[in-house]
Amino acid sequence: MHYFEYKHGELHCERVPISKIAEKVGTPFYLYSYRTLVRHFNVFNEAFEGIPHLVCYSMKSNSNLALIRLFVNLGGGVDVVSGGELFRAISGGADPKKIVFSGVGKREDEIEYGLKAGILMFNVESLMELQTINGVAGRMNKKAPISIRVNPDIDAKTHPYITTGMKQNKFGIDILQAPMAYRLASELPHLKIIGIDCHLGSQLVDVEPFVEALKKLRTLVDDLRGGGIEIHYLDLGGGLGITYNDEEPPHPYEYASNILEEIRSFNCTLILEPGRVIVGNAGILISKVLYTKENEEKRFLIVDAAMNDLVRPSYYGSFHQILPVREEKREEVVVDVVGPVCESADFLAKGRNMPRLNPGELIAVMSAGAYGFSMATNYNSRPRVAEVMIRDDEIHVIRKREEYEDLIRGEEIPEFLVR
Ligand code: LLP
Repeated sequence: MHYFEYKHGELHCERVPISKIAEKVGTPFYLYSYRTLVRHFNVFNEAFEGIPHLVCYSMKSNSNLALIRLFVNLGGGVDVVSGGELFRAISGGADPKKIVFSGVGKREDEIEYGLKAGILMFNVESLMELQTINGVAGRMNKKAPISIRVNPDIDAKTHPYITTGMKQNKFGIDILQAPMAYRLASELPHLKIIGIDCHLGSQLVDVEPFVEALKKLRTLVDDLRGGGIEIHYLDLGGGLGITYNDEEPPHPYEYASNILEEIRSFNCTLILEPGRVIVGNAGILISKVLYTKENEEKRFLIVDAAMNDLVRPSYYGSFHQILPVREEKREEVVVDVVGPVCESADFLAKGRNMPRLNPGELIAVMSAGAYGFSMATNYNSRPRVAEVMIRDDEIHVIRKREEYEDLIRGEEIPEFLVR
């Protein structure tokens, strides 16, 4: 459920016609609906009402400060995976006591930053990382709160690039090695074990893998407790999928109700790290048609957004629905929707049935709120686009479009080249 709807023949975000926003900020731009964001966060959060829990928004999906602040205002914590994300989370007003720090390659300076900030816990992904965190905490005369990210070896049946909980993935510590890792952690003087963590992958459209993972973790936690290791937090990661096309992922209530029983039996505070399910369908990418061209085989719709703005179609072959902003009965044609970037992989859609559009018209690339802007680059020296949040009839620019000057910030031509 979202607030992007046609009214009076034009796609609106909440109460604002999209052409009005385009006039104000130019194209392309990302567009988020405040009401949708709030609704998605609250629905997810309320699904777990019955048990002690903390929703740590996985900010890699969309790290704009305004979104972080919005979820913080709703009581959320944040899942971060780098020093940069930690900085953003804190800048967005997150309570460090509600921040979890995941990732396979935390650097010492990032660990130090997390300890200084006083985060809730580090999700540790290797034996070496345990040693490193222990060392950094020792130098700082602190005890680092940790959980171990366990790799349960479960096939989450999603795209191979975004599955994470299998033996061949780099993530977490093999579940068979986990007892040994916990033992090691308990012997390291500057670590404080507080939890257990796992994340299976992203865009999961079935609850079964979550249930399976919980069963495996449950046995492990029982064994750990039997050995005197206390586990207070159970972090189940993120990964709940959304509808891009015809997927039918479980509603958050269904997801929660299917796992609540199992979770209760842990007697832990539950931590969740949702990203996509909160922001994915709360954001769209608006672009303008520049040209059309055709040959005997193909018809191209050339638009001003490209793979550098939204990489998912090129990178994962992802499907994003594309709607004309103006709703009107027109002849349907089959087109490739492509951007200006100099790569054949630069497309937003291939072989798509669309109404015949003319240069100057606007299109909306749907379901672009997650892993859209946060994966954008400056490739082809294209300034990153603006981000806009609509609240009812208000238009808020939450990130202004980059300028050419932004593109060369920090670069320097060495003296010897200009002599
Ligand atoms: N927690 C951890 C440890 C993660 O690695 C991720 C996502 C999440 C939580 C959030 O997962 P979500 O709820 O959003 O599924 N760029 C890809 C998705 C990569 C996901 C990486 N990890 C895409 O565009 O589909």
